[in-house]
Amino acid sequence: MVEFSKIEPSYISKYGCRLVWKETDEDDQHVVVLNKNELDQLTEIMSKDSTGKVELEDEFSTVLINTDVTQFQLKEFKTLEVETSVLRKNILEYRDIPHEPKPIKIYPKEFFPSIQIEAEDEKQNKLLNEVLIKNKESVSESDLFRIMSTRRSTRNFDTTKPIEQWKIDKILAAADTAPTAGNFQGFEVFYIKNSEIKKRLVEAANNQPYVNAPLVLVFCMDPSRVKINFPAEILTKFSLQDATLAAAYSQLAASALGLSSIWIGMLDEEKVKQIIETELKPSSILCIGYPQKRRPPKSRRKLKELIRVIE
Ligand SMILES: Cc1cc2nc3c(=O)[nH]c(=O)nc-3n(C[C@H](O)[C@H](O)[C@H](O)COP(=O)(O)O)c2cc1C
Repeated sequence: MVEFSKIEPSYISKYGCRLVWKETDEDDQHVVVLNKNELDQLTEIMSKDSTGKVELEDEFSTVLINTDVTQFQLKEFKTLEVETSVLRKNILEYRDIPHEPKPIKIYPKEFFPSIQIEAEDEKQNKLLNEVLIKNKESVSESDLFRIMSTRRSTRNFDTTKPIEQWKIDKILAAADTAPTAGNFQGFEVFYIKNSEIKKRLVEAANNQPYVNAPLVLVFCMDPSRVKINFPAEILTKFSLQDATLAAAYSQLAASALGLSSIWIGMLDEEKVKQIIETELKPSSILCIGYPQKRRPPKSRRKLKELIRVIE
């Protein structure tokens, strides 16, 4: 059973909105994002108390406004419904509340994985799955526990051996598979290709020379993405956990691909922000490459010293 839940500002654009439906028996939601034009058309119909139709930008999806029920007929998805009176109330209230325009981040270069997906074949998560699953070479990806138990950090990278682009794709895609608070993905990854910036990051990370590694990823927190009505400090904590988990997933993916890494937590946040030109707080830098030497994992304390059983 899917039930209309709310209308909220769009966070990919400063205009438009997100209409949210909730599954009653699952912790899941469906969102329709309307752009400015679509929202304006819907608002006009709603404010006149009339019926009508709004074609959505994708040219296949339609909003049918009937007297009793409004249907969102969505391409390749089930039809989402809401009582027209409920939608009207929400839309008109939303129109009357001033929404803070949010600056849209525009990065000079977007990242495209080296794997190409046919346009007509493009489905949600298809690209992510392709990048993750495609097996270019036989690396021991399948045994997670073996990867965990053999992982060892390195601070000495073989700088003569570049990392294959498909491996970089997988490491980045792995970050996107980590769980995040409310599935809001409160983090961002900066993939540093520029060698001058890598050198400056060395200095920002307490002069740790291995930060200038073949692959350098800066994981940043973005609490503004976490649209949950909790106090700011909780949202900050969530985004720190999101960014940390994502980095951990990438680190494990790197190990699965025969690479090694070093996690950098000792960094000057302000310097890093300045260098990579962001307002987002960095949580860690993950430096990845082929190790000069493969080494066995470090020892840990005994499990029985680590685990406290509460009965
Ligand atoms: C939160 C955190 C911060 C870390 N910061 C640094 C760092 O700034 N510099 C560094 O050389 N290693 C850093 N490390 C790496 C640890 O020293 C390393 O993971 C630890 O010695 C265990 O070794 P292993 O990863 O090979 O098991 C950090 C690790 C974590 C989890």
